[in-house]
Amino acid sequence: MSTQQQQQQQPKGHSRHDTALIHGLTTSEVQQLSEACIEAKGRAYCPYSNFRVGCSILLTSGEVVRGANVENAAYPVGTCAERVTIGNAVTQHRAKKGDFRAIAVATDITPPASPCGMCRQFIREFCELNCPILMYDIEGKSTVMTLEQLLPMSFGPEKLIHD
Ligand code: THU
Repeated sequence: MSTQQQQQQQPKGHSRHDTALIHGLTTSEVQQLSEACIEAKGRAYCPYSNFRVGCSILLTSGEVVRGANVENAAYPVGTCAERVTIGNAVTQHRAKKGDFRAIAVATDITPPASPCGMCRQFIREFCELNCPILMYDIEGKSTVMTLEQLLPMSFGPEKLIHD
């Protein structure tokens, strides 16, 4: 089958696991990330929006960390799944910048939702610009983009370091 035929067979805006493989992840790592973020979606506390978001992070140690959005009766106090999960990685696994291999998020919509602006900046604190962010829709189909694609010309911790 030609590349063009293969591309035509794929739904627009979605990629198969092959795209994540381009970012240096193995099939098994992609599988772990996708299963973990979809499972984590079930842990969401979202009685106000009913919008479940699950997140998983693959660390360089091979560990996969999970988290989900946690809402609050005082709406702005609620936290997104990505920030909950990064907090878990930092506090439970002592993860530091350089320890993050990939991030995955899952929602119940299609096409897949991408991390909000605040979460993109939160991710920027710990992840390299080429860190792949895998976004899963309700059917488990994914789109993959790098942090730099989602947050171009970004501001990060290295800008504040002076010798
Ligand atoms: N949400 C996330 O968890 N991640 C995002 O990147 C976007 C939004 C959550 C926040 C809130 O609990 C719900 O989705 C609706 O905005």
